[in-house]
Amino acid sequence: MKIGLMGLGTVGSGVVRLIEQNGEAIEKKIGQKIEIKKILVKDPEKKRMPQVEGKITIVPEDILEDPEIDVVVEVMGKEHPALEYMKRAIENGKSVVTANKEVISKHGKELIKLANERKVSLLYEASVGGGIPIIRPLKQCLAANKIYEIKGILNGTTNYILTEMKERGMSFEGVLKEAQQKGYAELDPTDDVDGFDAARKLAILCTLSFNKYVVPDDIYTKGIRTISKEDIQYAEELGYTIKLIAFGRIDDDGKLEAWVHPVMISKSNPLNGVNGVYNAILVEGNAVGRLMFYGQGAGMMPTASAVVADVIDVVNHIPGQNGYEDAKVQNIVDTVSKYYIRLTALDKPGVMSKITGVLGQEGISLISVVQKEVRGEYAEIVLITHNAVTGSIFNALKKIEKLEEIDKVANVIKVEGEE
Ligand code: NAP
Ligand code: HSE
Repeated sequence: MKIGLMGLGTVGSGVVRLIEQNGEAIEKKIGQKIEIKKILVKDPEKKRMPQVEGKITIVPEDILEDPEIDVVVEVMGKEHPALEYMKRAIENGKSVVTANKEVISKHGKELIKLANERKVSLLYEASVGGGIPIIRPLKQCLAANKIYEIKGILNGTTNYILTEMKERGMSFEGVLKEAQQKGYAELDPTDDVDGFDAARKLAILCTLSFNKYVVPDDIYTKGIRTISKEDIQYAEELGYTIKLIAFGRIDDDGKLEAWVHPVMISKSNPLNGVNGVYNAILVEGNAVGRLMFYGQGAGMMPTASAVVADVIDVVNHIPGQNGYEDAKVQNIVDTVSKYYIRLTALDKPGVMSKITGVLGQEGISLISVVQKEVRGEYAEIVLITHNAVTGSIFNALKKIEKLEEIDKVANVIKVEGEE
């Protein structure tokens, strides 16, 4: 089996190494030798690992138009030109393996249709959870189940930042800077810290779990930029840990909820103990019950493990999913959750009753109200609500922000748990 590799960065180099290390064992398993014929890169001047000598190209047609190449492995990243290259590969009768969650979450529908028409495979195990097997279990091992809930920690960078903030009492900006210096976080961290990466992965998981196409634009997305040292400390005092959670649920009437949001996770929840760059995904199926998938959600060799497994599966021709309809995801304002709200207000009589009065008008009741630090003339107030309609929370916060005694609504975090 001859492969055209598009991209030789972190993941692409891992694929080269893994095929070199385990090639013989893989050949015994599948009865075919996997050979990388050509490797597409952007910069022809960059120094490369010695084992790729003679294989490097900057001309995509060297891969896309080569009839000897059976499988195109796309590990370049970004939406364009990766999408166009994948389409051309499929149109030319080649199977495609990709780690690209942006392309799959936004264009999976058309690519899968094309792959089905051309009777080739389109596999994307590495696009969610790096080395964690989750796409294949959802498509195959759990196919007999009705999956009604999927939730997890899908982004390693944000989980690392939140873990370090908690363990070392550092600020968001401080940990981010350090993570960038060490190369853990991208220089432009937007996709990770603002939740877009997690939303793309969640869109892929919801589509496979609920058999309806969910796209990232359907998913209400809030990242971790606003999480402060105080939020982390108050969460700890309340018995929680803050995690960036990606959540999808469908009820028996087909009502579908999907969001990415910081959530206070209780100590008894297994997601509470998922730290650092690790990812974890909890799946609930009506036959199998609750499952947890845990492991390294990124990195050279874990991600290569998922990519090469897909290459191996091309031999078995795993068919793509069939024509799902587009999902109708609930607007976040219609969903219900408990909320933690931190605000700063003038430290004077009557302020608390004004705040609780506004919440009362919106039908929101409170589990607790605590006045925290007083800094100068301002006091910090932490509120935890009972389950409330999110739209009412948004309305109440708009009104609260306009009160003259209020300095600012500093943060709003979901709190897990049923009532
Ligand atoms: P990376 O280190 O930035 O490498 C990208 C590679 O693609 C480089 O070799 C680059 O060439 C090449 N490339 C980029 N644009 C190109 C273009 N227009 N034409 C030709 N070559 C181009 O990226 P990565 O971290 O390996 O990630 C690759 C993909 O895997 C992304 O979709 C990412 O989301 C996904 N993924 C990554 C991880 C991870 O841990 N890194 C985990 C899961 C999924 P040069 O070498 O010449 O610059
Ligand atoms: N940037 C991603 C993360 C890794 O931090 O989880 C690739 O999926």
